[in-house]
Amino acid sequence: MAITTDQDNKPVAHIEPLEQLARFSWENARSLCRPEDGCVDYHQTWSMVRLLQLGGALPAGVEFFRRELGALALAGKTRVLVSGGADAGVTAMVAHSYLAVGVQPHITFVDRCETSCEQNRMLLRELGIEGEVRCMDATQIDGGPFDAIVWHSFLHFFDGVQRTLLLGAWGRVLAPGGVMVMSTPLAPNDAEWTRIADPVSIEERRSALVAAAVHAGWPHQEATELGARAAAAWSVSGRRAPALTRQVFVDTLAQAGFELRSIDIHEPIPSPSNLGTPVGKRRYRAEAIAVRPGALS
Ligand SMILES: C[S@@+](CC[C@H](N)C(=O)[O-])C[C@H]1O[C@@H](n2cnc3c(N)ncnc32)[C@H](O)[C@@H]1O
Repeated sequence: MAITTDQDNKPVAHIEPLEQLARFSWENARSLCRPEDGCVDYHQTWSMVRLLQLGGALPAGVEFFRRELGALALAGKTRVLVSGGADAGVTAMVAHSYLAVGVQPHITFVDRCETSCEQNRMLLRELGIEGEVRCMDATQIDGGPFDAIVWHSFLHFFDGVQRTLLLGAWGRVLAPGGVMVMSTPLAPNDAEWTRIADPVSIEERRSALVAAAVHAGWPHQEATELGARAAAAWSVSGRRAPALTRQVFVDTLAQAGFELRSIDIHEPIPSPSNLGTPVGKRRYRAEAIAVRPGALS
């Protein structure tokens, strides 16, 4: 498959069979997502939104991941755990980072939802990448050791107790000297751990999505349903307290025994997850590297 790139956050053409993946989740999420996880509107529409409305954009930070994972690849560090993915976008970004320097990764993907797990199985098969997909609670992850753990916009969905459990589990499965490669939105202050969605921008984005679907040849009724499901997903927030401020993020890593190697805080850039948020209200994003102390395995 051809790999073309790439400005930050632009699609990596053709590495991800997004049409097929988006069609899969649109047709199957309502039977695969578990009601108690509350993810069905999100998982049913996320890939389709990326496909129809965002030009296939990958998660924010393509350049950062490509640089950091490319260096790991060239050092022979190929065992990667991808923790959480709304679809196969994060895994595609990881795979691309390795394949771009001619190295095959071994990818383990974890999410609690069967919809995104099945999309990730499809992607690994399509790319011929060795690995496994584990449909489970990320705080229970075992096995390894991994050379790298990659996560993207994930930690703020866990409350304080769960964050400690998650970081503890990651510390156990990461090889000594292994690295965590992370990208996360940061809350501006302690009070703002979640934010009520803005109904006006949700409505604008919904009608743009319906128009894009009709333009792509969808029957009007199905396009309207897509818009309604996506708008329902944008109207809720899965964020948990305490707010993931820069300080809380740094402290959480330190308390779990990780050494922070670098943290770059970026002005909000348009990304798949914030395009519906008015510019002045988008969150800053941290791209960070933390290491599990010890010799490189
Ligand atoms: C917002 S998404 C990740 C966003 C990421 N930027 C992307 O583009 O894929 C969060 C994911 O975490 C998963 N998740 C939430 N809690 C989890 C848990 N306890 N264990 C495993 N997965 C979990 C959800 O199913 C969802 O797919």
